[in-house]
Amino acid sequence: MPDDQPDAESDESLYRHPYPSPDLADRHPFVEHDHEVVDDAEMRRRAEAFRATSERRRSVRMFSPDPVPRALVEAAVAAASTAPSGAHKQPWTFVAVADPDVKARIREAAEAEERTNYLDNRMNAEWQEALAPLGTDHHKEFLDVAPWLVVLFEQRYELRDDGSTRKNYYVKESVGIAAGLFVAAVHDMGLATLPHTPSPMAFLRTILGRPENERPFVMFPVGRPLPGVRVPDLRRKALDEVLVVLDGMG
Ligand SMILES: Cc1cc2nc3c(=O)[nH]c(=O)nc-3n(C[C@H](O)[C@H](O)[C@H](O)COP(=O)(O)O)c2cc1C
Repeated sequence: MPDDQPDAESDESLYRHPYPSPDLADRHPFVEHDHEVVDDAEMRRRAEAFRATSERRRSVRMFSPDPVPRALVEAAVAAASTAPSGAHKQPWTFVAVADPDVKARIREAAEAEERTNYLDNRMNAEWQEALAPLGTDHHKEFLDVAPWLVVLFEQRYELRDDGSTRKNYYVKESVGIAAGLFVAAVHDMGLATLPHTPSPMAFLRTILGRPENERPFVMFPVGRPLPGVRVPDLRRKALDEVLVVLDGMG
């Protein structure tokens, strides 16, 4: 065992308040965590591989119409739905659309909102300036062309089958994490996506017939990038611009 590997047996003595307490374990079921033990070298290899994969991810705005098996979309949603969530409420619904008629209605409604955003200046000058390098406009042809549109809804509160309601906690944080996992899963399997927010997005709830407790959070066209697709030449922040380390080493 490498020197920096903690010794699990002896480290238990660090805890005067074990989790779960015997009383808690009597009242609620607990299971042993199925943690994969990975040695230091393998951790470094995996860390680098995931970083390199993540570096290659780009949002694309021109997709190929080639069909994508439903099983791949299901796998990405299943991965996303492993996200941690406030009080384990999993306050999200993913609606996966391949139906051309529904996609066409979504495109039409999205372009109507985006025309107001871009052409009637609903987006203020500062916002438009921030978007300028991306060159986005009110044309959203990819909503028709991509084989799948996955619309992610946040559940503002829980609506039970009997009509009663319960509070959800940290909804935006939880759904944001699920969205991130979805993007990573889609990219990792070799497909592409674009987080798209043609706001206001209330039309998505109407077109997709979702219940009153759900609000559109973001939608994702999913497919293969159109061969030769171009993307803005963006620079990502360097590690020292996004990371502050306090390791007590001076
Ligand atoms: C919450 C969110 C909303 C976004 N909305 C849009 C959008 O409506 N239209 C669009 O073209 N791109 C949208 N994007 C994509 C960003 O422009 C893109 O992620 C950013 O320019 C960085 O490029 P990259 O994803 O290729 O790294 C959105 C991204 C996020 C995270």
